[in-house]
Amino acid sequence: RMSLLRSASQHLRRRRGYSSTPAQPERKVAILGAAGGIGQPLALLMKLNPLVSSLSLYDIAATPGVAADVSHINTRALVKGFVGDDQLGEALEGADLVIIPAGVPRKPGMTRDDLFKINAGIVKGLCTAIATHCPNALVNMISNPVNSTVPIAAEVFKKAGTYDEKKLFGVTTLDVVRAKTFYAGKANVPVTGVNVPVVGGHAGITILPLFSQATPASNALSHEDLVALTKRTQDGGTEVVEAKAGKGSATLSMAYAGAVFGDACLKGLNGVPDIVECSFVQSTVTELPFFASKQVTNFSSLHEICLHAYS
Ligand code: NAD
Ligand code: LMR
Repeated sequence: RMSLLRSASQHLRRRRGYSSTPAQPERKVAILGAAGGIGQPLALLMKLNPLVSSLSLYDIAATPGVAADVSHINTRALVKGFVGDDQLGEALEGADLVIIPAGVPRKPGMTRDDLFKINAGIVKGLCTAIATHCPNALVNMISNPVNSTVPIAAEVFKKAGTYDEKKLFGVTTLDVVRAKTFYAGKANVPVTGVNVPVVGGHAGITILPLFSQATPASNALSHEDLVALTKRTQDGGTEVVEAKAGKGSATLSMAYAGAVFGDACLKGLNGVPDIVECSFVQSTVTELPFFASKQVTNFSSLHEICLHAYS
């Protein structure tokens, strides 16, 4: 009878989906700008990530509604909403990973640099709070212009005495996502197995997709094809901005890309070896102080990361 009971209970546990998965460590993720175009679908995707135990949704408005909504999803992460400056500290306390999609997006005719004035201030304020409340957290910077907001974050952390260059990442995953999609389409190969490194920065010609290193390699692509693929990847953001015709920039594909990069960071924190993603980081690969390149995240302990830039 005991063995019958045991097997019935095992069956139930399997059906509920928590049978033999090893326990994952507790991980708190905070999203700053969580009620925005990127923030909301990113909150949804991070709620679906089984590596997240606590999900903190912060914005200057509307997060109580977003949090109440997302919190009803029956996955592991406990969701809490925080709104306004007064609650920023609590939102960040104990965070292992902070993802920042806060700030204004482009409209047609604007460059990412046109966002600098407003977004630099927003990022400065948020990073000052990170330095106080979760100085050891990994920071994933989505807010544009990434080529400037990452150095701004670095300066804020330096001033606060908390800067660790191995923990600050400009999220350029959307460039990789686009390069993979466009390459697979042109080379006529299944997109699932495609990989394309993208180095440099996250604006126009600073976005450098390395189709010469794309896998699987394709000999079906002409020089003209490669030039067109490069241009389309570099102009991917503008393609979306123009298609949205004044209603913002990429949000859904960015949320996906942000969730992919956030997941890679959590895996790295959890000790999963050789997780490789391209990211805009402090770098010695070129003479530029920051440069996006392939990063392998190896974590020798929960908050210790070593990043090795591929040259
Ligand atoms: P959005 O306007 O829809 O949302 C931005 C959110 O930020 C809003 O909810 C707003 O209330 C919030 N916000 C403003 N100030 C804040 C503050 N001080 N603290 C917390 N939240 C604050 O914009 P979006 O479409 O989500 O884009 C957000 C940013 O992401 C833009 O700067 C955009 O250019 C950038 N972006 C980057 C990439 C990339 O590849 N890195 C891709 C797409 C968009
Ligand atoms: C993107 O690449 O889609 C983002 O940087 C948003 C933008 O302004 O293009």
